[in-house]
Amino acid sequence: MNSPALIIFCFLLLSAFSHAAVQDFCVADYSGPQSPAGYSCKNPGKVTVDDFVYSGLGVAGNTSTFKAGITTAFVSDFPGLNGLGVSIARADLAPGGVVPLHSHPGASEILLVVEGTVTTGFVSSANSVYLKTLKKGDIIVFPQGLLHFAVNAGHSNALIFITFSSESPGLQILDTALFGSNLPTELIAKTTFLDPAVVKKLKGVFGGSG
Ligand SMILES: *[C@@H]1O[C@H](CO)[C@@H](O)[C@H](O)[C@H]1NC(C)=O
Repeated sequence: MNSPALIIFCFLLLSAFSHAAVQDFCVADYSGPQSPAGYSCKNPGKVTVDDFVYSGLGVAGNTSTFKAGITTAFVSDFPGLNGLGVSIARADLAPGGVVPLHSHPGASEILLVVEGTVTTGFVSSANSVYLKTLKKGDIIVFPQGLLHFAVNAGHSNALIFITFSSESPGLQILDTALFGSNLPTELIAKTTFLDPAVVKKLKGVFGGSG
């Protein structure tokens, strides 16, 4: 290839790439098909500012059952997040409230304590424990996919806000996976080394069967 041809070729290549990135947003169209890449795009001509605004985090979550109420603004709640790689949630913890051990397969997380005192931490894949009691204004980051938890360490309500590096972080809670599912008690006892009576008791708490 001579050099003018090479220059033209490079120019065409660059313009092809830059055209690929021109779309500003892809607000979720919940009625369209969903793929691993996210929801289909709402017609941009029909997008309004309200697609980018969400008011669901203004009220405290219901803490009556597990003393903890979690309210999410994931892409399934908030269409403007589609394709943007961020999301947010709040957790209200009554005294004694707990967010049990869980992981987000698709996102790292930053937790900010807005009110109260919260003991939190994560366990690495080498089984090292990183544990801290946070006060108002402190943040902690949880690396993607690792098991982590939060406990209200004070005598008043605690409020935390949580941001994620994905609009759809995913959530797997250890207790509900084990004791809120229909995995047979015998297999849970075998694979966790717990006493079957303990497994049955926890199934009663978390709603599992089998
Ligand atoms: C909170 O949840 C409990 C149990 O599900 C329910 O009885 C109660 O009405 C809820 N409270 C509010 C304010 O939604």
